[in-house]
Amino acid sequence: MQDDYLRKLEAIEQEAVLAIQNAPNMLELDTARSRFVGKNSGIDEVMQALPKLSKEERPRIGQGANKVKTAIEEAYKERRDSLRRDELNKQLSADRIDVTLPGAGRPIGHLHPLTQVTNELITIFYGMGFSVIEGPEIETDYYNFDALNTPANHPARDEQDTFYTDVAPQILLRSQTSTVQVRAMEKMKPPLRVISPGRVYRNEEVNARKYPLFHQVEGLVIDRDVTFGQLKGTLNEFIRLLFGKPLKTRFRPDFFPFTEPSAELDCQCPFCMGEGCRTCGHRGWIELLGCGMVDPDVLKGAGIDPEEWSGFAFGMGIDRLTMLKFGINDIRHLFTSDMRFLEQF
Ligand code: DAH
Repeated sequence: MQDDYLRKLEAIEQEAVLAIQNAPNMLELDTARSRFVGKNSGIDEVMQALPKLSKEERPRIGQGANKVKTAIEEAYKERRDSLRRDELNKQLSADRIDVTLPGAGRPIGHLHPLTQVTNELITIFYGMGFSVIEGPEIETDYYNFDALNTPANHPARDEQDTFYTDVAPQILLRSQTSTVQVRAMEKMKPPLRVISPGRVYRNEEVNARKYPLFHQVEGLVIDRDVTFGQLKGTLNEFIRLLFGKPLKTRFRPDFFPFTEPSAELDCQCPFCMGEGCRTCGHRGWIELLGCGMVDPDVLKGAGIDPEEWSGFAFGMGIDRLTMLKFGINDIRHLFTSDMRFLEQF
Protein backbone atom coordinates (compact mmCIF):
# COMPACT_ATOMS: atom_id res chain seq x y z
CA MET A 1 0.00 0.00 0.00
CA GLN A 2 2.62 2.46 1.10
CA ASP A 3 4.92 1.55 -1.77
CA ASP A 4 2.06 2.01 -4.22
CA TYR A 5 1.68 5.60 -3.08
CA LEU A 6 5.37 6.29 -3.23
CA ARG A 7 5.65 4.83 -6.71
CA LYS A 8 2.64 6.89 -7.76
CA LEU A 9 4.24 10.07 -6.39
CA GLU A 10 7.46 9.28 -8.17
CA ALA A 11 5.61 8.78 -11.45
CA ILE A 12 3.73 12.06 -10.92
CA GLU A 13 6.94 13.92 -10.29
CA GLN A 14 8.59 12.55 -13.39
CA GLU A 15 5.63 13.24 -15.61
CA ALA A 16 5.02 16.71 -14.13
CA VAL A 17 8.62 17.88 -14.34
CA LEU A 18 8.84 16.69 -17.94
CA ALA A 19 5.58 18.41 -18.90
CA ILE A 20 6.67 21.59 -17.18
CA GLN A 21 10.10 21.61 -18.75
CA ASN A 22 8.58 21.16 -22.17
CA ALA A 23 5.79 23.69 -21.82
CA PRO A 24 6.20 25.93 -24.87
CA ASN A 25 4.56 28.99 -23.30
CA MET A 26 3.16 30.46 -20.10
CA LEU A 27 -0.37 29.30 -20.76
CA GLU A 28 0.60 25.68 -21.17
CA LEU A 29 3.00 25.94 -18.28
CA ASP A 30 0.22 27.09 -15.94
CA THR A 31 -2.10 24.39 -17.25
CA ALA A 32 0.55 21.74 -16.61
CA ARG A 33 1.12 22.95 -13.06
CA SER A 34 -2.54 22.91 -12.07
CA ARG A 35 -2.92 19.54 -13.72
CA PHE A 36 -0.26 18.08 -11.42
CA VAL A 37 -0.66 20.01 -8.14
CA GLY A 38 -4.16 21.51 -8.30
CA LYS A 39 -7.50 20.11 -7.32
CA ASN A 40 -8.22 16.61 -8.60
CA SER A 41 -4.59 16.14 -9.50
CA GLY A 42 -2.67 12.96 -8.70
CA ILE A 43 -1.08 14.60 -5.68
CA ASP A 44 -4.44 15.84 -4.52
CA GLU A 45 -5.68 12.26 -4.61
CA VAL A 46 -2.75 11.12 -2.46
CA MET A 47 -3.39 13.94 0.00
CA GLN A 48 -7.07 13.08 0.17
CA ALA A 49 -6.11 9.51 0.99
CA LEU A 50 -3.78 10.47 3.86
CA PRO A 51 -6.38 10.33 6.66
CA LYS A 52 -7.12 6.76 5.65
CA LEU A 53 -3.54 5.69 6.12
CA SER A 54 -2.03 4.29 9.27
CA LYS A 55 -0.20 6.55 11.72
CA GLU A 56 3.16 5.18 10.57
CA GLU A 57 2.45 5.54 6.89
CA ARG A 58 0.92 9.00 7.02
CA PRO A 59 4.03 11.13 7.68
CA ARG A 60 6.15 9.32 5.09
CA ILE A 61 3.56 9.62 2.34
CA GLY A 62 2.73 13.19 3.42
CA GLN A 63 6.40 14.17 3.30
CA GLY A 64 6.77 12.36 -0.01
CA ALA A 65 3.82 14.26 -1.45
CA ASN A 66 5.23 17.58 -0.19
CA LYS A 67 8.63 16.81 -1.70
CA VAL A 68 7.03 16.12 -5.04
CA LYS A 69 5.00 19.33 -4.78
CA THR A 70 8.15 21.31 -4.01
CA ALA A 71 9.99 19.68 -6.90
CA ILE A 72 7.15 20.55 -9.24
CA GLU A 73 7.07 24.14 -7.95
CA GLU A 74 10.83 24.41 -8.47
CA ALA A 75 10.56 23.08 -11.99
CA TYR A 76 7.68 25.47 -12.58
CA LYS A 77 9.65 28.51 -11.41
CA GLU A 78 12.65 27.57 -13.46
CA ARG A 79 10.60 27.10 -16.60
CA ARG A 80 8.64 30.31 -15.94
CA ASP A 81 11.84 32.32 -15.62
CA SER A 82 13.28 30.86 -18.74
CA LEU A 83 10.07 31.54 -20.69
CA ARG A 84 10.11 35.13 -19.45
CA ARG A 85 13.72 35.55 -20.48
CA ASP A 86 12.92 34.20 -23.94
CA GLU A 87 9.97 36.56 -24.23
CA LEU A 88 12.08 39.53 -23.17
CA ASN A 89 14.83 38.65 -25.62
CA LYS A 90 12.28 38.29 -28.38
CA GLN A 91 10.89 41.73 -27.60
CA LEU A 92 14.30 43.30 -27.38
CA SER A 93 15.38 41.99 -30.71
CA ALA A 94 12.10 43.02 -32.30
CA ASP A 95 12.51 46.52 -30.87
CA ARG A 96 16.14 46.78 -31.79
CA ILE A 97 17.19 50.04 -33.45
CA ASP A 98 19.94 49.84 -36.02
CA VAL A 99 21.83 52.97 -35.20
CA THR A 100 23.89 52.57 -38.35
CA LEU A 101 20.86 53.05 -40.61
CA PRO A 102 20.60 56.46 -42.24
CA GLY A 103 18.21 58.72 -40.30
CA ALA A 104 14.78 59.76 -41.49
CA GLY A 105 15.89 62.87 -43.37
CA ARG A 106 14.33 66.13 -42.35
CA PRO A 107 14.18 68.47 -45.32
CA ILE A 108 16.72 71.23 -44.86
CA GLY A 109 16.04 74.50 -46.60
CA HIS A 110 18.52 76.26 -48.79
CA LEU A 111 19.31 79.77 -49.86
CA HIS A 112 17.10 81.51 -52.38
CA PRO A 113 18.82 81.81 -55.79
CA LEU A 114 18.92 85.61 -55.35
CA THR A 115 20.68 85.21 -52.02
CA GLN A 116 23.11 82.72 -53.54
CA VAL A 117 24.09 85.16 -56.28
CA THR A 118 24.24 88.10 -53.85
CA ASN A 119 26.58 86.11 -51.63
CA GLU A 120 28.72 85.26 -54.62
CA LEU A 121 28.98 88.94 -55.56
CA ILE A 122 29.89 89.82 -51.99
CA THR A 123 32.59 87.13 -51.91
CA ILE A 124 34.15 88.37 -55.13
CA PHE A 125 34.26 92.03 -54.09
CA TYR A 126 35.30 91.15 -50.57
CA GLY A 127 38.32 89.44 -52.14
CA MET A 128 39.15 92.69 -53.93
CA GLY A 129 39.17 94.64 -50.69
CA PHE A 130 35.63 96.01 -50.71
CA SER A 131 33.53 96.07 -47.58
CA VAL A 132 29.78 95.62 -47.50
CA ILE A 133 27.46 98.32 -46.21
CA GLU A 134 23.70 98.66 -46.13
CA GLY A 135 21.38 101.57 -46.68
CA PRO A 136 17.69 102.14 -45.93
CA GLU A 137 15.02 101.08 -48.39
CA ILE A 138 12.76 103.92 -47.26
CA GLU A 139 14.67 107.01 -48.33
CA THR A 140 14.41 110.72 -48.83
CA ASP A 141 14.40 112.20 -52.32
CA TYR A 142 17.62 113.93 -51.29
CA TYR A 143 19.62 110.68 -51.23
CA ASN A 144 17.73 109.06 -54.07
CA PHE A 145 18.02 112.06 -56.41
CA ASP A 146 19.36 115.46 -55.31
CA ALA A 147 22.62 114.25 -53.81
CA LEU A 148 23.11 112.16 -56.94
CA ASN A 149 23.03 115.26 -59.10
CA THR A 150 19.40 114.82 -60.06
CA PRO A 151 17.51 117.93 -58.90
CA ALA A 152 13.73 118.18 -58.96
CA ASN A 153 13.39 119.39 -62.51
CA HIS A 154 15.92 116.95 -63.92
CA PRO A 155 14.52 114.71 -66.69
CA ALA A 156 16.34 111.66 -65.25
CA ARG A 157 13.86 111.66 -62.36
CA ASP A 158 11.10 110.63 -64.72
CA GLU A 159 13.07 107.67 -66.01
CA GLN A 160 12.74 105.93 -62.70
CA ASP A 161 9.09 105.78 -61.87
CA THR A 162 9.44 106.13 -58.14
CA PHE A 163 7.07 105.06 -55.37
CA TYR A 164 6.41 108.02 -53.11
CA THR A 165 4.85 107.54 -49.72
CA ASP A 166 2.26 109.62 -47.95
CA VAL A 167 4.45 109.84 -44.85
CA ALA A 168 5.85 113.11 -46.23
CA PRO A 169 6.30 114.41 -49.76
CA GLN A 170 10.05 113.72 -49.75
CA ILE A 171 9.86 110.16 -48.39
CA LEU A 172 10.06 107.44 -51.03
CA LEU A 173 11.09 103.84 -51.63
CA ARG A 174 14.56 104.04 -53.09
CA SER A 175 14.65 103.37 -56.82
CA GLN A 176 18.37 102.58 -56.86
CA THR A 177 21.11 101.51 -54.48
CA SER A 178 23.16 104.53 -55.60
CA THR A 179 21.68 106.24 -52.52
CA VAL A 180 24.23 104.34 -50.46
CA GLN A 181 27.11 106.03 -52.33
CA VAL A 182 26.21 109.34 -50.71
CA ARG A 183 25.51 107.81 -47.32
CA ALA A 184 28.88 106.02 -47.41
CA MET A 185 30.77 109.19 -48.36
CA GLU A 186 29.08 111.14 -45.60
CA LYS A 187 29.84 108.54 -42.96
CA MET A 188 33.23 107.17 -43.93
CA LYS A 189 36.41 109.07 -44.64
CA PRO A 190 38.11 108.39 -47.98
CA PRO A 191 39.83 106.30 -49.19
CA LEU A 192 36.90 103.91 -49.32
CA ARG A 193 35.91 100.83 -51.22
CA VAL A 194 32.40 99.60 -50.60
CA ILE A 195 29.60 97.62 -52.17
CA SER A 196 25.99 97.72 -51.09
CA PRO A 197 23.50 95.09 -52.17
CA GLY A 198 19.81 95.51 -51.49
CA ARG A 199 16.22 95.90 -52.59
CA VAL A 200 15.02 98.72 -54.80
CA TYR A 201 11.52 99.66 -55.98
CA ARG A 202 10.05 101.10 -59.13
CA ASN A 203 6.47 101.59 -60.13
CA GLU A 204 6.59 99.39 -63.18
CA GLU A 205 4.11 97.16 -64.84
CA VAL A 206 4.81 93.52 -64.08
CA ASN A 207 5.95 91.27 -66.88
CA ALA A 208 8.50 88.50 -67.42
CA ARG A 209 11.37 91.01 -67.20
CA LYS A 210 10.04 93.62 -64.80
CA TYR A 211 8.83 93.56 -61.25
CA PRO A 212 8.18 96.55 -58.95
CA LEU A 213 10.65 95.12 -56.45
CA PHE A 214 14.10 94.03 -57.53
CA HIS A 215 17.70 94.00 -56.33
CA GLN A 216 20.84 95.91 -57.13
CA VAL A 217 24.38 96.00 -55.91
CA GLU A 218 26.17 99.32 -55.86
CA GLY A 219 29.93 99.74 -55.85
CA LEU A 220 31.97 102.80 -54.92
CA VAL A 221 35.68 103.45 -54.80
CA ILE A 222 37.07 106.79 -53.62
CA ASP A 223 40.79 107.38 -53.48
CA ARG A 224 43.51 109.68 -54.79
CA ASP A 225 44.03 109.71 -58.56
CA VAL A 226 41.46 107.02 -59.38
CA THR A 227 41.39 106.37 -63.13
CA PHE A 228 38.92 104.98 -65.62
CA GLY A 229 41.55 102.29 -66.27
CA GLN A 230 41.15 101.14 -62.67
CA LEU A 231 37.40 101.02 -63.13
CA LYS A 232 37.85 98.83 -66.21
CA GLY A 233 40.41 96.61 -64.51
CA THR A 234 38.20 96.09 -61.46
CA LEU A 235 35.08 95.24 -63.45
CA ASN A 236 36.94 92.99 -65.93
CA GLU A 237 38.37 91.02 -63.03
CA PHE A 238 34.92 90.89 -61.41
CA ILE A 239 33.45 89.39 -64.60
CA ARG A 240 36.26 86.85 -64.85
CA LEU A 241 35.59 85.70 -61.29
CA LEU A 242 31.82 85.75 -61.71
CA PHE A 243 31.75 83.53 -64.78
CA GLY A 244 34.92 81.61 -64.01
CA LYS A 245 36.66 82.52 -67.27
CA PRO A 246 38.01 85.62 -68.97
CA LEU A 247 35.35 87.21 -71.19
CA LYS A 248 35.61 90.11 -73.59
CA THR A 249 34.01 93.29 -72.30
CA ARG A 250 33.01 96.54 -73.91
CA PHE A 251 32.27 99.89 -72.32
CA ARG A 252 29.64 101.86 -74.22
CA PRO A 253 29.23 105.57 -73.46
CA ASP A 254 26.03 106.26 -71.57
CA PHE A 255 24.58 108.89 -69.30
CA PHE A 256 23.99 108.84 -65.56
CA PRO A 257 23.60 112.11 -63.65
CA PHE A 258 26.05 111.12 -60.94
CA THR A 259 28.98 109.91 -63.06
CA GLU A 260 31.06 111.67 -65.68
CA PRO A 261 31.99 110.03 -67.95
CA SER A 262 29.41 107.25 -67.68
CA ALA A 263 29.33 103.89 -69.40
CA GLU A 264 27.28 100.78 -69.82
CA LEU A 265 29.32 97.62 -69.51
CA ASP A 266 28.59 94.62 -71.71
CA CYS A 267 30.36 91.30 -71.55
CA GLN A 268 30.75 88.58 -74.12
CA CYS A 269 27.93 86.07 -73.61
CA PRO A 270 29.39 83.36 -71.33
CA PHE A 271 27.05 80.74 -72.78
CA CYS A 272 27.86 81.02 -76.49
CA MET A 273 31.16 82.92 -76.09
CA GLY A 274 29.79 85.58 -78.44
CA GLU A 275 28.47 83.30 -81.18
CA GLY A 276 24.86 84.31 -80.43
CA CYS A 277 22.35 82.21 -78.52
CA ARG A 278 18.92 82.47 -76.93
CA THR A 279 20.28 83.76 -73.63
CA CYS A 280 21.96 86.79 -75.23
CA GLY A 281 19.15 87.25 -77.74
CA HIS A 282 21.61 86.33 -80.54
CA ARG A 283 23.59 89.47 -79.88
CA GLY A 284 26.66 87.74 -78.48
CA TRP A 285 26.82 90.37 -75.70
CA ILE A 286 25.11 90.76 -72.37
CA GLU A 287 24.39 94.12 -70.73
CA LEU A 288 25.65 93.88 -67.20
CA LEU A 289 25.83 97.21 -65.44
CA GLY A 290 26.13 100.97 -65.42
CA CYS A 291 29.28 102.66 -64.24
CA GLY A 292 31.42 105.76 -64.44
CA MET A 293 33.71 108.21 -62.70
CA VAL A 294 31.98 109.85 -59.75
CA ASP A 295 30.86 113.37 -60.72
CA PRO A 296 32.86 116.02 -58.79
CA ASP A 297 29.56 117.66 -57.80
CA VAL A 298 28.46 114.44 -56.06
CA LEU A 299 31.75 114.36 -54.14
CA LYS A 300 31.40 118.01 -53.18
CA GLY A 301 27.81 117.50 -52.02
CA ALA A 302 28.93 114.68 -49.72
CA GLY A 303 31.70 116.82 -48.26
CA ILE A 304 34.63 115.34 -50.17
CA ASP A 305 37.11 117.65 -51.91
CA PRO A 306 37.13 116.69 -55.62
CA GLU A 307 40.56 118.31 -56.00
CA GLU A 308 42.02 115.78 -53.62
CA TRP A 309 39.82 112.74 -54.21
CA SER A 310 38.28 111.02 -57.18
CA GLY A 311 36.44 107.78 -57.64
CA PHE A 312 34.38 105.40 -59.70
CA ALA A 313 31.01 103.80 -59.13
CA PHE A 314 28.97 101.03 -60.64
CA GLY A 315 25.53 99.54 -60.18
CA MET A 316 24.06 96.30 -61.41
CA GLY A 317 20.83 94.37 -61.24
CA ILE A 318 21.08 91.16 -59.24
CA ASP A 319 17.79 89.66 -60.44
CA ARG A 320 18.82 89.72 -64.10
CA LEU A 321 22.18 88.25 -63.23
CA THR A 322 20.48 85.48 -61.24
CA MET A 323 18.14 84.74 -64.14
CA LEU A 324 21.13 84.63 -66.46
CA LYS A 325 23.17 82.33 -64.24
CA PHE A 326 20.35 79.87 -63.58
CA GLY A 327 18.57 80.12 -66.92
CA ILE A 328 15.36 81.54 -65.40
CA ASN A 329 13.08 83.08 -68.00
CA ASP A 330 10.61 85.00 -65.86
CA ILE A 331 11.54 87.38 -63.03
CA ARG A 332 8.23 86.65 -61.26
CA HIS A 333 9.48 83.17 -60.34
CA LEU A 334 11.95 84.86 -57.98
CA PHE A 335 9.14 86.37 -55.91
CA THR A 336 6.33 83.83 -55.80
CA SER A 337 7.93 81.52 -53.20
CA ASP A 338 6.79 78.45 -55.13
CA MET A 339 8.73 75.51 -53.72
CA ARG A 340 8.49 73.61 -57.00
CA PHE A 341 10.54 76.40 -58.52
CA LEU A 342 12.86 77.15 -55.61
CA GLU A 343 13.82 73.53 -54.97
CA GLN A 344 15.54 73.43 -58.33
CA PHE A 345 18.34 75.76 -57.25
N1 DAH B 1 21.73 103.52 -60.34
C1 DAH B 1 21.78 103.19 -61.75
C2 DAH B 1 20.45 102.56 -62.16
O1 DAH B 1 19.71 102.14 -61.30
C3 DAH B 1 22.89 102.24 -62.06
C4 DAH B 1 24.23 102.89 -61.95
C5 DAH B 1 24.80 103.47 -63.03
C6 DAH B 1 24.90 102.94 -60.77
C7 DAH B 1 26.04 104.07 -62.98
C8 DAH B 1 26.16 103.54 -60.67
C9 DAH B 1 26.72 104.11 -61.81
O2 DAH B 1 26.87 103.59 -59.57
O3 DAH B 1 27.92 104.67 -61.71
O4 DAH B 1 20.16 102.50 -63.30
